[in-house]
Amino acid sequence: MIRVAVIHGPNLNLLGLREPELYGGEDLDSINRRLLQLAAAEQMELRITQSNSEGALVDAIHAALGWADAIVINPAAYTHTSIAIRDALAAVRLPTVEVHLSNIYARESFRHHSVIAPVVVGQITGFGAESYLLALRAVREVVERARQ
Ligand code: DQA
Repeated sequence: MIRVAVIHGPNLNLLGLREPELYGGEDLDSINRRLLQLAAAEQMELRITQSNSEGALVDAIHAALGWADAIVINPAAYTHTSIAIRDALAAVRLPTVEVHLSNIYARESFRHHSVIAPVVVGQITGFGAESYLLALRAVREVVERARQ
């Protein structure tokens, strides 16, 4: 069994309504259901959190410690600014995959820099909701490799 904390950052609760030309028409509940389906098929257990607050996201990262084998996180706008989220990920030392629905490198220049990227195993960006499913598969590979 592989346990993964899935953490969604600010404004992702509005997926479906929010700029669908950028983020797609699927809402967060539907994405979470697809993640849970994939997890069940792959012997994975998920704890899923969404928050619009930086501190609550830091708390969710801390809460993963002692339970999760890995983290999948879309820090949303905090990707570009939050040293607190970066430090929390560095502190817990769990293998982490950073996710973005849109391709942050094809957008405004302020989105080209991720302060999170240096403390994660890798980043999946630009595949819409599929980015999350790819991230779950990627993190599974990382945990399995480490267990071998
Ligand atoms: C995002 C990209 C961020 O730049 C943006 O602030 C978001 C969503 C994405 O998933 O594409 O809120 O993380």
